[in-house]
Parts: sequence; structure tokens; C-alpha cells
Amino acid sequence: MTNWMEIDTYAKKWIEEAGERLKVSFDEKLNIDTKTNPNDLVTNMDRETEQFFMDKITETFPNHRIFGEEGMGHDVKDLQGIVWIIDPIDGTMNFIHQQRNFAISIGIMEDGKGKIGLVYDVVHDELYHTVRGQGAFMNEKKLPPLKQGRVSETILSLNATWVTENRKIDPSILGPLVRDVRGTRSYGSAALELAFVAAGRLDAYITMRLSPWDFAGGAILIEEVGGEVSDLQGNPLDYLKGGPLFVSKPGLHKEIGENYLKDL
Ligand code: IPD
Ligand code: CA
Ligand code: CA
Ligand code: CA
Repeated sequence: MTNWMEIDTYAKKWIEEAGERLKVSFDEKLNIDTKTNPNDLVTNMDRETEQFFMDKITETFPNHRIFGEEGMGHDVKDLQGIVWIIDPIDGTMNFIHQQRNFAISIGIMEDGKGKIGLVYDVVHDELYHTVRGQGAFMNEKKLPPLKQGRVSETILSLNATWVTENRKIDPSILGPLVRDVRGTRSYGSAALELAFVAAGRLDAYITMRLSPWDFAGGAILIEEVGGEVSDLQGNPLDYLKGGPLFVSKPGLHKEIGENYLKDL
């Protein structure tokens, strides 16, 4: 039988070690490259951090697979067995420009089901973590189950891109929701935004385009505290392909889905 507590102990140790290396790198020269466009940034630290996890995991758990953003892991085409879905730096733009507001995200899946979720806010030294069924924690503090939410009292995380001309959603769809919520925020790290929903610091987060490594760790955290996780139509997330994402406190999914997203 899989010893999830043992895997969790290693994962926490490695994520903290990786975070320490990122902090040290602030005083070193970064190599910055672009990927698909001039704003799609990647650094030597994104690649080195993913390689660090790859080395540790393959040495300790040779039958586990790694599915990571920077391609240092395996060529994952299915989710059979144990797969670590890793974003070595989520919020690379913030890492480069701000040296804060980024996270390391890890979701560990077994046969496609989320078992362990970790999101590490390196600069604040806040590690959000859960082993499914054992409760979710921020460092050693247990996160309470999420209470029912309502739109009028919601702090919604949303990138301004989705209310301007874009290729994914008619900008008039989310405008009324932005008008009706208490406030909006945008942090530039999906993993942190998900961890903040799990911790009750945000009430909902909507975005049109994420990859599995952006949401795997955070989605498991939100589910553990009773929040709702889906695409914009309420369907389950695709942990191989990614796509749009809508997470919230209980109750808000229904209210937002029925009143604001029905014309999608
Ligand atoms: C990005 C961040 C960002 C989200 C982008 C992601 P990266 O991840 O999560 O908040 O809006 O869609 O690609 O590239 O910094 O790991
Ligand atoms: Ca990236
Ligand atoms: Ca990411
Ligand atoms: Ca990344």
C-alpha cells in the first residue's frame, strides 16, 4: 500500500529546500529567456528547480512519474499510477520583476485523483499543504472548512485580460460579475490565488487558461476545505490538458454559474 505520509514528508522537505535555493538566487544573476511570446518568461531557476525535484523524486520513488512545466520530467500522456504535477515557479513574471508573489506548486495524483497538494509561498514562508482526508494546513495552522459565500460579499481574483478584448471569452460576460462583487484582485500566480481561496483570503478565482501544473496543487487544497473546483461550466478539470478554471467557496459556484455564466 502507498505510504502517503512518507511521500508527504519528502515533498514538504524538498519544497522547502527548493524555496531556499530560490531565495538565495535573488542575489545572483538570473538568466531570462522567452518562450511562446515576449511576455512568456522563463529563467534558469525555473529549470533548475524542476530538475531538483526530478532528481530527488526519481532517486527516492523510481516508479513515480513527473509532469512539469519546463519539461525536465517525463513525457506524461496519461495519469496512471503516481504522478507529481509540478510548477517549479508559478508566477515567473513576479519572480523576475518583484521577487515576491510567486509559489512552488505540487499536486501528487494517483490514477488521476489528487492525493497531496502543496503550494509554497516562498517569500512569506507559508506552506499550504494537504494529504487528502487529513485536513489542509497553512504551515502548522489547520485551515477551517470554507463557509457559504455570496456574490455581494465576494473578493474575486480575476486578471483584467478577461474583461478586455481577448480570444477566450466575450469581455461583456464577466463585467457584471466584476460590478457586483465586493472587490477584485489579481496576484499573477494561479497557485497562490488557489491557496488563498483555500485559506479564505479570497472567495473565488476565475481564469480562462491554465495548465495542469498551475492548478494541481491548489485544486486539491480547495477540495479538502470543501470549496468547489471546476471549469466555467461546472465540469471537472482536465489534469492532462488544463483549460479554464473556476474555484470558489461553497454556494458561490451556483450563484455565479446561474446568474453570470449561463450564456457561455
Ligand atoms: C502563470 C501564472 C499566471 C497565470 C498564467 C500562468 P507561470 O504561470 O500562474 O498567474 O495567469 O496563465 O501561466 O508561467 O508563471 O508558471
Ligand atoms: Ca511559465
Ligand atoms: Ca504556472
Ligand atoms: Ca511556472
